[in-house]
Amino acid sequence: MATPHNTAEPGDIAPLVLMPGDPRRAARIAEGFLTDATLVSEVRGIGAWTGTWNGTPMSVMASGMGIASLSIYATELYRFYGVQRICRVGTCGGLSPDVDVRDVVVAASAHTNNGCASLPVPGASLSMTASFDMLRAAVDASRASGATTHVGSVFSSDFFYTTRPEVTEGLIKVGTLGVEMEAAGLYGCAMAEGKEALAVLTVSDHLTKDGTDMSAAQRETSFSSALEIAAAALTA
Ligand code: ADE
Repeated sequence: MATPHNTAEPGDIAPLVLMPGDPRRAARIAEGFLTDATLVSEVRGIGAWTGTWNGTPMSVMASGMGIASLSIYATELYRFYGVQRICRVGTCGGLSPDVDVRDVVVAASAHTNNGCASLPVPGASLSMTASFDMLRAAVDASRASGATTHVGSVFSSDFFYTTRPEVTEGLIKVGTLGVEMEAAGLYGCAMAEGKEALAVLTVSDHLTKDGTDMSAAQRETSFSSALEIAAAALTA
């Protein structure tokens, strides 16, 4: 049964899914990282491919930008396609002074200004938390990968262009590693559907360190360590 946003048939998508934000990055992962990947859906330019990684069936599908977009694809994958685990492989802006451009951030938890934390249970602010088993596997894989890896909280913002510097300052004070726009939504969808999720992020720019941003071309190619870590987390 196809959904409004996915024309794949049940069984066309593997239980383990890599989810970058950018559809072009999804195509590059299908071509260069998965083996024998086949295109199974392409609604609105959001391609989904299924192949294998080290012999294990694995799919890749982009989320688009922001929690609103990601939540559509992630919910449909979990609810209608039997997907068990989704690993976001994306970029984040560095917040913590301990984090540098090109480092890897594994998001154990995600703060957010999005309603996914406050709307489902009135009066409660829910914790947006990664799958422990995926997180543990990612930490183990990151030690082997040689990438400088940080494990902790990120901020999933609904706004790329922020007008409130005090928010950034407050997040840095409480030790937030980076800012991006999707992880909390993914963790919320996994929680709602009783499934698992993790976000493995490459630091593409830094909000308080000057002159270190990656170009768009570098962003596309400089995250192979994050991909290896993500695939290890999915298959753990
Ligand atoms: N993704 C990568 N860099 C980001 C930033 N500075 N803000 C939000 N999302 C990002």
